[in-house]
Amino acid sequence: MAEKTDGVEVSEAQIASHWKEEDLIHPSISFIGQANMANPKIREHFSSDNFPESFRLYADLLDWDQYWHTTLDSSEPPFFKWFVGGKLNASYNCVDRHLAKHGNKVAFTWVSEIEGEPDRVISYRELWVMVNEFAALLKDFAGVKTGDRVTLHMPMVLELPVTMLALARLGVTHSQVFGGFSGAACGDRIVDSDSHVLITSDAYYRSGQLLDHKIKADEAVVQAEKGGVKVDKVLVWQRYAAKASSPTPMVEGRDYFVNDLLSDYRGQRVDPVSLPADHPLFLMYTSGTTAKPKGCQHSTGGYLAYAAGTSKFYQDIHPEDVYWCMADIGWITGHSYIVYGPLSVAASSVLFEGVPNYPDPGRPWRIAERLGVNIFHTAPTTIRMLRKAGPDEPAKYDYHFKHMTTVGEPIEPEVWRWYYDVVGKGEAAIVDTYWQTETGGFIGTTLPALEPMKPGSCGPGALGIVPVILDEDGNKIEPGSGKAGNICMSNPWPGRMQTIYGDPERFVDTYYAKYAKSDSKDWRDWPYVTGDGGTQGADGYLRVVGRVDDVINVAGHRLGTKELESAALTVEAVSEAAAVPAFDELKGRVPEMYVSLKPGFGADSGVDEQVRQAISQIIGPIARPSHVWVTSDLPKTRSGKIMRRVIASISNFIDVGDTTTLSNPEIVEEIQRQVQTAKVGLGKIPQGVPQEVIQEIMRFGEEK
Ligand code: WTA
Repeated sequence: MAEKTDGVEVSEAQIASHWKEEDLIHPSISFIGQANMANPKIREHFSSDNFPESFRLYADLLDWDQYWHTTLDSSEPPFFKWFVGGKLNASYNCVDRHLAKHGNKVAFTWVSEIEGEPDRVISYRELWVMVNEFAALLKDFAGVKTGDRVTLHMPMVLELPVTMLALARLGVTHSQVFGGFSGAACGDRIVDSDSHVLITSDAYYRSGQLLDHKIKADEAVVQAEKGGVKVDKVLVWQRYAAKASSPTPMVEGRDYFVNDLLSDYRGQRVDPVSLPADHPLFLMYTSGTTAKPKGCQHSTGGYLAYAAGTSKFYQDIHPEDVYWCMADIGWITGHSYIVYGPLSVAASSVLFEGVPNYPDPGRPWRIAERLGVNIFHTAPTTIRMLRKAGPDEPAKYDYHFKHMTTVGEPIEPEVWRWYYDVVGKGEAAIVDTYWQTETGGFIGTTLPALEPMKPGSCGPGALGIVPVILDEDGNKIEPGSGKAGNICMSNPWPGRMQTIYGDPERFVDTYYAKYAKSDSKDWRDWPYVTGDGGTQGADGYLRVVGRVDDVINVAGHRLGTKELESAALTVEAVSEAAAVPAFDELKGRVPEMYVSLKPGFGADSGVDEQVRQAISQIIGPIARPSHVWVTSDLPKTRSGKIMRRVIASISNFIDVGDTTTLSNPEIVEEIQRQVQTAKVGLGKIPQGVPQEVIQEIMRFGEEK
């Protein structure tokens, strides 16, 4: 079926695109003057002709024990190997090699959620001591060795990067599970990775509450046992050394406070193990809620080179900067852009324990002012939340950012502008960094000094990566055509994951099978499939419209959820919006919108009609939502993504499924009561929802 929308031909296999072109914004001369990458010829260096050797620039930022002989071995696609023959250690590269020049420089300033509590500030020298002593403990007491996997379930404490680096020093692959996840979710990941040691913390603060975290370790061990894996040792870091912060008892012979053991290792040093470039540095599980999570396996050499290169040139970190990535280390953003990338370029970073709006939404700006933060990095969900809760707060504090990052989902142009004007005070260059757990580092973003910003659009492919948009048949959609399709990357790059741990077939199926010529040995026949839908402008800038699975198909029109949400956000009262499909006997699906409002606006202020009008006007009457629900909040994952699956289930009266990985599970019942009571009152209970629609809804927003 082919239909016309705004003059652009849209077939069922395509996703409609209705974005208005935004104006380009250039960074200030002072930013350009100091940037790490200000060479206007850099794109030539990274042109396809120079691939793959161009990536030497990144690998040469590291210290290698043995230099590699082959930059890329692509003989077994898609299992690409980078810097083959090279040997190195990630812990050495992040810590030891900085001692001579930066030993007394701050590595981390850890900030407690409790505002009166003192910071913990550690230099590179102190980091080195902590990493060595803990590595000695791990080796001699916990008995872990090169090639093992160890699961971590830690909150945002200094000991988390110390633990990661100590394991990396020994060549042990770490698998950090986001601290907010349940014990059972941690247990499943222990089983999948076959870990026999669990490293955790006793307690941490969240929104002013000291939460018992140790209890989750007990649950994780039970869950792992059900899956056939016995955890021999649980090592527990303490929130307050030598003080009980959790009421959960320690299990004799299994659980140990690290603090009690460490004194035996004082002064011990452990040589970093020299590892082949493709030695697995860590696993990071993607956040599926019903499908089995995928353990994305990242390498030592390729990953670290990519994290270092992108931290230097895209995050623009210099050793003298004060860098703050306000994200959780339990997410890939924290691995690449709090730990491995920044430390490999000798950054001084802020590590923040808590939530950004505790005790009030001025907190991040007070921290920035006090510590002199000049590079700030966060996610659209946080930006929206701070805009909702404290739109005028940034102006009250005397901080100045030179650079800001947004990451994790498409940012609506309205929100982008608030970030730029109010948080950045019109002074900071913004990079909208598009990437995935799987990609190790940025794959789409502007070079901050060289390429102008465009609100809502991440920019071109990152250096050395050539994005291509393919239609369902694998034909290239030309940039500038206005049509959307599947965003793919046409070439390999060093940061990409190596495989799904224990399941190489699923790796090939998920990321390559759709378009690969499976009998070809040429990497050109193996485009990487992101699973995101998007468009590319004539200028090469990408716009992500959402996960391909999150598209709502209304009478043959595939509408990207992000487009609907961006349109809703043009209504002044709206602070957050989510679009979901509701079953409709006539049209197949109709979009329903869920919105929450900025303070000072009431649900009775005609917002629902304004949202309907905005969507009809910006996208077209076909997209007009059947209902607009104004709710007090929306269900979100711990990394801040709106769980559309949950609200889609509510709209369609089907089971909401597992909500244990939400950051605010209590909102689910509230929304359910509100929406379903209203629908019952209107006689709008969906009847006979077909099985395939139920399955589609269960997949909605599933993988990310
Ligand atoms: C989405 C997070 C638009 C996208 C680093 C991707 C984005 C998924 C952006 C990966 C961005 C991430 N603009 N969309 N700047 N960044 N996404 O694995 O759908 O948690 O596939 O990695 O988030 O999420 P993940």
